[in-house]
Amino acid sequence: MKKQTFIRIATVAIAGAAATPIAAANLTLYCSAQEEWCQLMARGFEDATGINVDMTRKSSGETFAQVKAEEANPKGDVWWGGTGDPHLQAAEEELTEPYVSPMREQLHPWAIAQATSAGDRTIGIYSGALGYGYNTDLLAAENLSEPSCWKDLLKPEFKGHVQMANPNSSGTAYTTLATMVQLFGEDEGFEFMKGLHANINQYTKSGSAPIKAAALGETTIGIVFMHDAVAQAVAGFPITVVAPCEGTGYEIGSMSIIKGARNLDEAKQFYDWALSVEAQNLALQVNAFQVPSNIGAETSDKAPDLSSIKLIDYDFKKYGSSDERKRLLEKWDNEVSVLPQ
Ligand code: F6P
Repeated sequence: MKKQTFIRIATVAIAGAAATPIAAANLTLYCSAQEEWCQLMARGFEDATGINVDMTRKSSGETFAQVKAEEANPKGDVWWGGTGDPHLQAAEEELTEPYVSPMREQLHPWAIAQATSAGDRTIGIYSGALGYGYNTDLLAAENLSEPSCWKDLLKPEFKGHVQMANPNSSGTAYTTLATMVQLFGEDEGFEFMKGLHANINQYTKSGSAPIKAAALGETTIGIVFMHDAVAQAVAGFPITVVAPCEGTGYEIGSMSIIKGARNLDEAKQFYDWALSVEAQNLALQVNAFQVPSNIGAETSDKAPDLSSIKLIDYDFKKYGSSDERKRLLEKWDNEVSVLPQ
């Protein structure tokens, strides 16, 4: 073929392509699990389907607030990860879409229970227990006693040594607040939160930030999900993980399709894929030590063994209800966060 002819044909072909563009499929993903896992899920889905993913990571309470604020003009398609309570609140406020995935039968009963209690507007994708971790080097350097219970954290020697997230933005911290109320009763639970406040050096936005800070020696103790503390220990930092002696709460990390999703078909595709063994096993690549909801997915041998931890019978229905979550957060804002330290 002569060069000139080739150029002409190529020009016509390009012009033709420009006239009838093939729209690329897209998905807007709101993610509330750890950043590295969010990234991997987005890339993994792109590789599996060719659908482009635009992912943003925000904490659970923050994402709930965003979905609520965008209610009249939804911008997200799927909300993947984050504690179950705000997903349940979103379901109750009908901010999310009911969907029954064909993958559901592959899941543990606790993941399905999350869906049935919310009219199928959310579903469990992983679980993990709350606890705390401390930096063993700092503890020894400061001559502090080894804590093993929740109430140990109230000791005056820990003043300025404890960090946790703000329960308004963080699902981890809301789980902490709701756990104390269930473990000790509401009055004593709030007394605990007030006592703890006196020892807190900073309330962070994200739930796992306190244990990252402990790993770097910026705080001695971080109240987090135990799997987040294990991740720091596995990364080689001097972190000891504690399952508090009184017992503790746990999360059912969840996923929901946002009501009015602009890319509903892609959202359902992501949802089904995210419940598969293949997708859930990606967690192992990024040291995410939660327990996966697919019965066939692998749990790391480093993951905290939930059957050996004293777990409370966390009332997800109550503490994930709109009224209760709003009430507890308001009470914490008015009665705890305002106290002098
Ligand atoms: O870091 C992972 C994780 O602990 C998840 O298990 C949990 O659902 C999420 O973070 C909660 O994050 P946040 O407290 O920032 O809402």
